[in-house]
Amino acid sequence: MTDTAGTTISVCPVAELPPGARRLVEHDGMKIGVFNCDGTLYAIEDRCSHDDGPLAEGEFDQAACTVECPRHGSLFDLTTGRPKTLPAFKPVKTFAAAVVDDTVTLEVA
Ligand code: FES
Repeated sequence: MTDTAGTTISVCPVAELPPGARRLVEHDGMKIGVFNCDGTLYAIEDRCSHDDGPLAEGEFDQAACTVECPRHGSLFDLTTGRPKTLPAFKPVKTFAAAVVDDTVTLEVA
C-alpha cells in the first residue's frame, strides 16, 4: 500500500510520557525517540548522523532539551535535530509529536 497523505502513529498514553521521560518507538524499521522536555514533546530519529549511534538512548537533559550521543558525545538539540557539538555536524530527522485524545502521536511521513 502506498500512502502519500502522511502517516500518524500512536506512541503511548500521554500519562506514560511525563516531563523528563522518553520513549522509543519503531516504525517501518526506523527507531524514533520521543522526549518530553518540560511538558513539550519532541521526536528524533534514533540514529546519530555521525556514525549511526543509538542517539535517543544517550543522556537526556530535559531543561536544555538536548540528548548526548552515547557513542562519541555529540550533543543534539531535540527541538531542531541539529548537533550543538562535534563530531556530528549534520542534523537528524525530526518528527512532529502531538497529543490526540490523551495519546501521544507522531507524524512519520
Ligand atoms: S555516532 Fe554519535 S557522535 Fe559519533
